Amino acid sequence: MGSLKLILSSLVLVFVIAGVLIGAESKTYWGDIEVLKELKNGFDPGSLNPGSCVSSWDFTIDPCDNLFGEKFTCGFRCDLVVSGISRITELGLDQAGYAGSLSSISWNLPYLETLDLSSNFFSGAIPDSLSNLTRLRRLGLSRNLFTGEIPSSIGSLPNLEELYLDNNNLQGTMPASLNGLVSLKRLEIQSNKLNGTLPDLGSLRNLYYLDISDNAIVGEPPATLPSSLIQISMRNNSLGGTLIPESFINLMSLQSELIAIDLSNNELQGLLPSFMALMPKLSALSLENNKFTGMIPTQYALKAAVPDSGISPFARLLLGGNYLFGPIPDPLRFLKPGSANVRLVDNCLYRCPDAFFFCQGGDQKSLTEYLFC
Ligand SMILES: *[C@@H]1O[C@H](CO)[C@@H](O)[C@H](O)[C@H]1NC(C)=O
Ligand SMILES: *[C@@H]1O[C@H](CO)[C@@H](O)[C@H](O)[C@H]1NC(C)=O
Ligand SMILES: *[C@@H]1O[C@H](CO)[C@@H](O)[C@H](O)[C@H]1NC(C)=O
Repeated sequence: MGSLKLILSSLVLVFVIAGVLIGAESKTYWGDIEVLKELKNGFDPGSLNPGSCVSSWDFTIDPCDNLFGEKFTCGFRCDLVVSGISRITELGLDQAGYAGSLSSISWNLPYLETLDLSSNFFSGAIPDSLSNLTRLRRLGLSRNLFTGEIPSSIGSLPNLEELYLDNNNLQGTMPASLNGLVSLKRLEIQSNKLNGTLPDLGSLRNLYYLDISDNAIVGEPPATLPSSLIQISMRNNSLGGTLIPESFINLMSLQSELIAIDLSNNELQGLLPSFMALMPKLSALSLENNKFTGMIPTQYALKAAVPDSGISPFARLLLGGNYLFGPIPDPLRFLKPGSANVRLVDNCLYRCPDAFFFCQGGDQKSLTEYLFC
């Protein structure tokens, strides 16, 4: 046993010396090579087009030491972590037609900061083992064929800043553990089949972009969204209830950074919330195709039509497809076409003549539908 160890360590020594002699800069850590092999073996062979990064991978030579050569043409990036040893810090295998499942891969790449597998044909579940990627800052799995639920273990990636799971077939409820992604800045899970209610995301104090549109999410709009948010899209879900000041409570403050919010194509009801006209930076508001009723608040009309110092005017105010009634508020009557994108069609605004550009492009509701106004 002892002599075997001796032989092995002298072999290592010989390799190290050989490496120095032939001018090799650094060797890939053996565990990282194992994961590259797992990846190559895990992909459907039929999806490894000749000329693709992964089909060029040839493990008879060292990956990091031969990167961008003939054998390891692309697909990852290495960084020297200790003298002579490189670790893989980025894997970018997007838009290459790869297929297969990620479940057989250990994802034991503790230095990986970026994993981008978007726009391929990967299928099956998003594996728990991705939570081994503890230094991960960007995870891109968009535009694949992933099914199943979002694994709750994804919430244990403390450095994750960008999470892209959009345009897959993910089901079930968004896990509550997402609230543990304390570094998260961007969350995109639009165009899936998620249902259930939204989890509390109030701890995500760096989140500025949230897109959950084109799912089947139910329940009321959350009260505890972080005030760091700049853009929110929740369009085309099944959100119900009313937008009272208690919803979006953190966003209402004068510190709110919110510029754009899209809640169109849901089932929201009640009055249009006038507090939204007081958000200092909000310039795009879409509440189209819901069940809002009541009159258009004068504050909305003022924010669209009267540029005021210190508060952003509405550049886009889409209120069509609701049950709004009453007169067109005065400030709107003087709004010039092209000055703001305003839409009021398909409501119960019986005095909304085509002379106003925001009344064009569709009728108001028929008299029978006025019952719901
Ligand atoms: C990687 O993840 C799997 C599944 O979650 C786990 O069994 C394994 O112990 C992890 N490996 C490391 C090195 O953390
Ligand atoms: C959510 O979707 C799953 C799977 O598609 C289904 O089994 C479940 O009943 C749905 N839940 C709700 C609340 O609609
Ligand atoms: C709404 O979302 C569903 C589910 O993702 C999608 O199939 C549908 O095309 C979307 N509808 C619109 C009008 O965008």
